[in-house]
Formats: sequence, structure tokens, C-alpha cells
Amino acid sequence: MSPQVDPFVQHFRASAPYIHAHRGRTFVIMFGGEAVASKDLRTLLYDVALLHSLGVRIVLVAGARPQIDEALARRGEQPKYEGDLRLTDEVALECVKEAVGATRVELESLLSMGLPNSPMAGARLRVAAGNFVMAQPLGVVDGVDYQYTGKPRRIDAEAIGQRLDDGAIVVLNPIGYSSTGEAFNISSHDLAAATAIALRADKLIGLIEGQGVLDAEGLAQSQLSPNEAERLLESGVNLGHDVERHLGAAIKACRGGVPRAHLVSRQSDGSLLRELFTRDGIGTLVTSETFEGVRPAAQIDIGGILALIEPLEEQGILVRRSQEMLENDIDRFTVIERDGMVVACAALYGYSDDSIAELACLVVHPDYRTSGRGDQLLQYLEKQCAAQGLERLFVLTTQTSHWFRERGFDTCELSELPEARRSLYDLGRRSKILLKPLD
Ligand SMILES: CC(C)(COP(=O)(O)OP(=O)(O)OC[C@H]1O[C@@H](n2cnc3c(N)ncnc32)[C@H](O)[C@@H]1OP(=O)(O)O)[C@@H](O)C(=O)NCCC(=O)NCCS
Repeated sequence: MSPQVDPFVQHFRASAPYIHAHRGRTFVIMFGGEAVASKDLRTLLYDVALLHSLGVRIVLVAGARPQIDEALARRGEQPKYEGDLRLTDEVALECVKEAVGATRVELESLLSMGLPNSPMAGARLRVAAGNFVMAQPLGVVDGVDYQYTGKPRRIDAEAIGQRLDDGAIVVLNPIGYSSTGEAFNISSHDLAAATAIALRADKLIGLIEGQGVLDAEGLAQSQLSPNEAERLLESGVNLGHDVERHLGAAIKACRGGVPRAHLVSRQSDGSLLRELFTRDGIGTLVTSETFEGVRPAAQIDIGGILALIEPLEEQGILVRRSQEMLENDIDRFTVIERDGMVVACAALYGYSDDSIAELACLVVHPDYRTSGRGDQLLQYLEKQCAAQGLERLFVLTTQTSHWFRERGFDTCELSELPEARRSLYDLGRRSKILLKPLD
């Protein structure tokens, strides 16, 4: 029996591939003023500091909507909105400046913390803020003059990039400056999307209020393409304003070339880390990339394939293959890759003289079984056989014969195998031989 592995050690080891994958990447992380006002802001910033210490280049975009509304209330003013957009008059602009200033100071002070017994001990983070965002007035739309409400016009990606190169965390607030020397209030979601696009960021991460992105049946959506996300927005399902705004930003960013946009609930502790350092994350990923796909294996997959097959070799379900054998045979393997990980594999050995092929080493990672991936690989390989003019497929198995029989295989005799394969048959394993004619 293998010795028990401490769960902490196991989790830490399991996060290693993600640590490598995220190092040197640029993430734009946005959250609303609700997060800034929350008592959980500290732990959120600890997690941001941890990401930074792992070599992630970070831009924070912090909203200030509730803080602006409170500043207005202190002046006895009602916030004015047209739909979801604030109408910023002169008084509101004063409140924007006040709220944004206070928000920035709050973030900068918490990011400066370094008490010896806190998670920020020794972090010595540098924070950079400045006139990185040029804005232009929204103007008059449908007869409504938005006054000091603006939209991002240009993001100074070069200046932000220099601060990131210097090792700083860049903090942006929903304010931009115009060539006339005025300040404009801009939507933090628009700002985050525009910044992620301008920086060619690897990820836009939105920390949302509430539980997440749910469809009409209340099912959590773990992955959406930009088109699917748009259909969900247009479907009339009540997603809540915050999720709608984040989803809109995610779609815009993806269409603007940002490979991945994540929506993660801010309210569950450590959600940012779980989204980034576990295989399936916990939030919603909006991406135009194929997140999962079947493809021929390459040398780079050898580690992933070994990790899949070794436990089954130990149980005697698969015949042992050395790393060297795998390296030699890698061209025969097909894998299913999911978010950079090999989650299934299979190999095909063709005997063209006999118009037959062997399917071997079919494995689906235990966490991903019974979702049709085994079938998917089998169908993919059957098509490959057909393309190569092979008419029959056989497999040797000790414990999975019923799976194959349910998919059109039937038992056959050793004598029906090609001669070259017959001589390699291990009598001791007493594997069942199953054959499927391909049409
Ligand atoms: C066999 C295997 C590849 C199937 O992968 P999968 O992605 O779970 O397959 P699918 O989702 O297409 O099919 C799942 C069905 O197969 C069934 N199944 C899984 N293992 C089985 C077995 N050993 N015998 C019979 N049926 C089995 C499941 O119960 C499920 O049935 P259900 O749909 O009626 O619930 C996977 O279980 C595996 O990796 N097993 C260990 C390795 C192995 O035995 N490989 C074959 C030797 S070459």
C-alpha cells in the first residue's frame, strides 16, 4: 500500500503546474466598491500579494459605486442613473473624486502592510497609480447629457507595462483624464476590459458579488464562449446587475483578444486562489479558445500520460510502459487536453498488412470518467483507422471487456490477431481479446 500523503503536501504539489503557468503572466483583476468596503478586503489583498510573489503581473481595477453614492448622500443628493450608467454632474464628480481618493488610499495602505506575523510579512509591495487612463465625455445620448460621465479613450499600456516591469502592482480607479485637463467618471467594467485589451493581458478576472453565473435552471456555468455568454445576457435570465456588468466586460475583453476572462464569486474565501490553482476552478470561464480538445500527443505530453497510466499499471490493469517506450511510441498516442492538462489518452498500433489496428492504453483520468470521454477517444480513433484503410480494431483487456462489448467489440481468438502481435501475447496476463469490424 502506498503511504498516506498529507493533504497539504498533496495540494501544494498539485498547484505546481499552475504556478509555472502563471509566472510572468499579466492579470487584470477587477472588483467593485462593495469589495473595498467589505471586511474581507484584507484577505483578498493577501491573495493578490501571494499571486504577485509568484511572479504574476497584476493590475487592480477597483470600483467605487457604493462609496460615490454614500458621498452623494452625505451631501443630501440622490445618485442619478440612466439605466446602469451614472449621470455625473458637478456635485457627483466631486463625490467621485472623494470616493476614488479614499478607495485608493485604503488599497495602498493595506498593500503596504508587512507586520511580521501577517501573511504580508516581508512582501514589500510597491503600488503604482497615475494618469494612465485618458477618457472622453460620453456626451449627449438620446437627449441625455451625461456631463462628467466618460468612457476610456486610450490606456497608456506602455507606462503601465513599465510599472509592472518594475515589480509594482498597478491600481486603477474608475476615473480618466481628458486632453482638456478634466476628469471623467468611467465605468470600472469598461475600464478593466479596455485595460486588459490594451495590455494584451492573459486574463481578466472579475470578482463578482453573489454566487456566480447561473442559467435559467439555476445551474452554475463553468465555461462559456463569448457568444454563449452574450446569449445568456440576452435570454432575460435574471443574473443580477453585477454579474451582467462583469459578463459584458468579459465578452468585450475576449473579443478584443484577451484569451481568458474569469468570473469568480468574491464572497467565498480564497476563491481567487481556487480559480487559478485548481484544475477546474470554481467560477465561470469565458474564452474563445477550445478549453478541451482531442489531439495527437507530442513529447511534451509524456509526463501527463505517465501520470495517467502509472496508477493503472500498479493495479495491473495496464501493461507497464517505461518512459523510453512512451517516448518512442508517442506518435501513436492521442490525448484529450483540458486547460493544459492531459485528462485522457489512448494509443493506436496499426498493422496495415492485415488491415487491422490495436487500441491500447485507453485511460480517462478518474475525475473525468463517465462523461463520454472514453467514447469520444474511441470514435476519434475509429475515424483514424478508417482514414488509413484499416477494417478492424482489436483490444486486449483484463477488466474492461464489457465497456468494449457495449461498443461493438466481440471476443475473438488469438489466432485472429496479426502474427507479429500474436508472438507478443502475454499468456500470464490472460487478457481477453476483443475485436470490432469497422464499417
Ligand atoms: C474504460 C474507461 C476508459 C471509460 O472512460 P469514460 O470516459 O468513463 O467512458 P464513457 O464516459 O464513454 O463511458 C462510461 C460508461 O462506461 C462504464 N464503465 C467504466 N468502466 C467500465 C468497465 N471496466 N467495465 C464496464 N463498463 C465500464 C461506466 O459505468 C459508464 O457506464 P454508464 O454510462 O452506463 O454509467 C475508463 O473507465 C478508464 O480509464 N478505465 C481504466 C483504464 C482501462 O480499463 N482502460 C481499458 C484498458 S485498454
